[in-house]
Amino acid sequence: MRSENPVTTVLLPKDGAAPGAVAVAHPNIALIKYWGKRDERLVLPWTDSLSMTLDVFPTTTHVRLDPAGGQDTVLLNGAPAAGEALRRITVFLDLVREMAGSARRAVVDTRNTVPTGAGLASSASGFAALALAAAAAYGLAPDATALSRLARRGSGSASRSIFGGFALWHAGPGTGADADACSYAEPVSSGGLDPALVIAVVNAGPKAVSSREAMRRTVGTSPLFRPWAAASKDDLADMRAALGRGDLEAVGEIAERNALGMHATMLAARPAVRYLSPATVTVLDRVLRLRAEGVLAYATMDAGPNVKVLCRRADSERVAAAVRDAAPQGSVLIAGPGPGARLLSEPA
Ligand code: PMV
Repeated sequence: MRSENPVTTVLLPKDGAAPGAVAVAHPNIALIKYWGKRDERLVLPWTDSLSMTLDVFPTTTHVRLDPAGGQDTVLLNGAPAAGEALRRITVFLDLVREMAGSARRAVVDTRNTVPTGAGLASSASGFAALALAAAAAYGLAPDATALSRLARRGSGSASRSIFGGFALWHAGPGTGADADACSYAEPVSSGGLDPALVIAVVNAGPKAVSSREAMRRTVGTSPLFRPWAAASKDDLADMRAALGRGDLEAVGEIAERNALGMHATMLAARPAVRYLSPATVTVLDRVLRLRAEGVLAYATMDAGPNVKVLCRRADSERVAAAVRDAAPQGSVLIAGPGPGARLLSEPA
């Protein structure tokens, strides 16, 4: 397993330009899900979660301080950000400014290679890259734990994308500032596992309900939420043991039951949140048949209809072909464990 810790340095201005920093981060897919906040402002989750960072779909983010600007300027994939996306990034930059004791506005240029808002964790790679680049641009030098806590404030799952390979995000105890200090991710080792995640993008469009709203509704109204959160504790303990012994079959079984349980909590919310589509179910059926054919293949789904199938790297081509066959309208790609967030040496 690769686990690269981020290094924070401030890039010097070139030719009189404002200082800037460029960071790259990859999305992660949770095998034990984060679903539900106990504190929305501080982004403190109800439960611990555990994920694999991917080696595909990086986000690259350039942050520089604006010498003149009265407000932050944000470009998302080359287009000016507006509305909720701009608000979330500005609120995040306010937090970085507060930590740095600075009032200067920033120019942010962020490029995703993953479809935004389709349950493919674009917010994880996005806020991990933004946390690292913004911290560097404002002259902060957080260690990996502090950086994970900072990324968490942008999007919970981003706390895990700071690290490569497998990462465990501790929910941490309590409330308020003490809890804030205790809720961060750290790398976990994976006992020589050589996994792949076959990603079936059955629909790359944005989701109808944001994960933020879906979590809020689930925590507030679903009678299945608390039982799932309790079961997720046991799932995490079992997952850590399975990962430690490199037992892909157990890792897959636990990941699949945890994800299906998470979707059950939202189906029971009032009104229900249903991200799974007919194409999702077709892929899930194919995964079951793969297992009947003797291939270790296990599904997980996030806040969207797309399916990620965990398997041995050696089986990934076969699994990808089967999934492609089952969902010919979609696109399928194979991901492996990827690196943690890092700064690039030169501004783009
Ligand atoms: O970090 P957010 O707010 O995008 O929430 C992501 C939640 C899930 O992807 C559904 C699960 C997870 O742990 O990543």
